[in-house]
Amino acid sequence: MSEALIKPQTIEAPQLQLTTLYPQSQQLSPQQFKRISTFMEKTTGIKLPESKRSMIQARLANRLKVLNFENYSQYIDFVFSSQEHATEEITMMIDLLTTNLTHFFREQTHFDFMQQSVLPSLVKDGISKPEIWSAGCSSGEEPYTLSIVMREFMKNNPGQFSDYSILATDISTRILSKAIDALYPIDTVEKLPYSIKKQYFLKSKDPNKPFAKPKAEVRNKVKFERLNFMDSAYRIQPKKNIIFCRNVLIYFDKPTQLEVIGKLIDCLVPGGFLFLGHSETIFGSNFPVKTVSTTVFQKTKEY
Ligand SMILES: C[S@@+](CC[C@H](N)C(=O)[O-])C[C@H]1O[C@@H](n2cnc3c(N)ncnc32)[C@H](O)[C@@H]1O
Repeated sequence: MSEALIKPQTIEAPQLQLTTLYPQSQQLSPQQFKRISTFMEKTTGIKLPESKRSMIQARLANRLKVLNFENYSQYIDFVFSSQEHATEEITMMIDLLTTNLTHFFREQTHFDFMQQSVLPSLVKDGISKPEIWSAGCSSGEEPYTLSIVMREFMKNNPGQFSDYSILATDISTRILSKAIDALYPIDTVEKLPYSIKKQYFLKSKDPNKPFAKPKAEVRNKVKFERLNFMDSAYRIQPKKNIIFCRNVLIYFDKPTQLEVIGKLIDCLVPGGFLFLGHSETIFGSNFPVKTVSTTVFQKTKEY
């Protein structure tokens, strides 16, 4: 056998390219992405940088299949057309492109501050039925947490409030129906104190489908509605004593953030409280508020 024949052959590894997985025609091109991101920013305020292109492509991929489109070009032509069902698809697209990450008692220090300072301050001001708004409520964990906090406060301070009411809004209809169903995987409540789980949650009996659901007394105080922060005015009545608008503004540019904050403050009663997410702020603006804790603001009483 000659040496040439026993020499191991070098086998060229096939060049694995993204196009092998997604043929060019099934990729979201930079131009198509731009159309979607421009639309999203105008309609919802959400900024989608180019770095999110592959994520957006992945999130919309299933819509192409469901609607039997061969590529993103066909999908985009349909979504932005006046054809029947295009408006429904816009709602669906917005649903898919929003980020809904949330959990029970997220940013716990806010709920501690609410119990220790904000609610006693409302009692002092003679408020008997606090009006609360969870703005950008996602799948409901935030408003249900607020409801639990209110119940805990009323249990520990009997006679201070006669009742309370919570409005919870989001732009995404899909996430709002999840919030109304209120069925949460059991691990989402695992880390909560035992006393809170026992008192405020029901547990499914089916071991194959373990989920938790806030009890009716917690859920009944929360009313869900669709609201887009880009609406010219928020027709929220009555005005609120407490607004939570957390981890939403980070998706907007600065002018949009300031516009939304201004409209939220308009929905507060004088002396009402606005909670923003821990990485959000309203520095450098002339709103009639003072900072009372980290990312918690109180509207001026004289306003
Ligand atoms: C990351 S979640 C925050 C949920 C909750 N506030 C929290 O802090 O855990 C952001 C939510 O804001 C909603 N959202 C984004 N843009 C919106 C808009 N223009 N109007 C109303 N809601 C919007 C999204 O649908 C999403 O459910």
